[in-house]
Amino acid sequence: MLEPKVITSLTNDRIKAIKALDMRKVRKETGLFIAEGVSLLVTARQHGHMPETLIYQAGAAEGAIQKGLIASALKAGAEVLEVSQAVLAKLASKDNPQTMLGVFRQTFAPPPVPAQVKPTATWLALEEVRDPGNLGTIVRTADATGVAGIILVGTCCDPFSIEAVRATMGSIFAVPLVKLSQDAFLDLIGAWPGDVAGTHLKASEDFRTAALRAPQLVVMGGEGPGLSTTVAEACSRLVKIPMAGDLDSLNLAIATALVLYQIRGPHLHL
Ligand SMILES: C[S@@+](CC[C@H](N)C(=O)[O-])C[C@H]1O[C@@H](n2cnc3c(N)ncnc32)[C@H](O)[C@@H]1O
Repeated sequence: MLEPKVITSLTNDRIKAIKALDMRKVRKETGLFIAEGVSLLVTARQHGHMPETLIYQAGAAEGAIQKGLIASALKAGAEVLEVSQAVLAKLASKDNPQTMLGVFRQTFAPPPVPAQVKPTATWLALEEVRDPGNLGTIVRTADATGVAGIILVGTCCDPFSIEAVRATMGSIFAVPLVKLSQDAFLDLIGAWPGDVAGTHLKASEDFRTAALRAPQLVVMGGEGPGLSTTVAEACSRLVKIPMAGDLDSLNLAIATALVLYQIRGPHLHL
């Protein structure tokens, strides 16, 4: 079994390369991302995801869980780096300091094949979502409600940014993510075997009473523009979340949670 490598220099090339994963461009080029904290690393392992590199602060990984993470990474042949506090501080988020982090390979799933979608499944599509905190929260909610997968339509924010990954609380390792252009998504909608429910502020159907035909494909619009007209017109149903106050709309992640809990209610358990 390999041994952890000790690094104390802030200018070490490996440390600089890992730090560079803060940048979307570098995440795109390398296909890697960072997940911070023991809890996310444990969730990753539960879902069969091993880090390519595990980094921990010297002297701060003495607990059984931390030792187990280090042992399983070494056994799997991952690079394991024991670093000084200063090096870890350079790598970890300033607002969420952690003593352990992992570098993982990004994975995107293939799009669902309409004829093979399970009759009880619910898929979620997000068109041009821009806020990583919203995206991460939605991934977590999709996990909680047993959604089969999330389709990112068009130009979305990066689900593998530190902020998005942190907001998923580990669900990034559990929920399949698919990327599609708007054209490819329209093709998918055209072949979808159940209802394609667009959520829209101009809809006249209440989402609470809309009996959506399974398997459902729920489509949410972006924070700024909402659903594009092209996608809205392709949906088989448009539903609205009624609101009492004099406000324009709900936050995207909140709206998604309300709709998913309504649809997935019969599949959830305490
Ligand atoms: C912040 S809203 C976008 C508001 C945008 N100005 C518009 O006109 O659609 C982001 C997304 O959340 C969902 N949403 C928010 N509030 C909603 C509501 N009351 N009814 C249905 N969908 C809602 C929709 O999917 C919407 O596209």
